[in-house]
Amino acid sequence: MPAKDYTAEAITVHWRSERCIHSARCLQGLPSVFDRDARPWIRPDGATADRVAAVVDTCPSRALTYTRTDGSAGGHNAERPDEDAPSDASTPVVVNVKRNGPMVVVGPVTVVDADGNVVSRDDRTFLCRCGGSARKPFCDGTHKSRGDWDDHTAR
Ligand code: SF4
Ligand code: FES
Repeated sequence: MPAKDYTAEAITVHWRSERCIHSARCLQGLPSVFDRDARPWIRPDGATADRVAAVVDTCPSRALTYTRTDGSAGGHNAERPDEDAPSDASTPVVVNVKRNGPMVVVGPVTVVDADGNVVSRDDRTFLCRCGGSARKPFCDGTHKSRGDWDDHTAR
């Protein structure tokens, strides 16, 4: 799915909703720019481009990326030329099990549904382990509100 773009003078923020795991780092990090009750919900002119970039860099899933249009260097969530392209299959894959949270698969992974349809092809895939996500097999952040869920990885 193509990204939606939100443009200010020195930066364009790109948004891929299907990657969001609702960690709320954007909302908490810069409420003057990221406000889910506002339309549009991203207003990149609500802070300096440096500040917007710094908060987008905290988005763990790369649902948010950005392009600096003032020649400034980008951080690790700067948009890549091949953002929506299949990854290099030679990159090693690491599976990171989050305590009471999702399984984060870092590296080029293709997720295929029961009918053989490709539902995701990404470098960073958050898979639900709690069973509560409305976007299974992907995490949607529901695990945080499931006080009854303990996956016993905290030992
Ligand atoms: S995953 Fe990224 S876009 Fe989604 S709420 Fe967290 S910081 Fe914001
Ligand atoms: S692990 Fe995040 S919603 Fe289930």
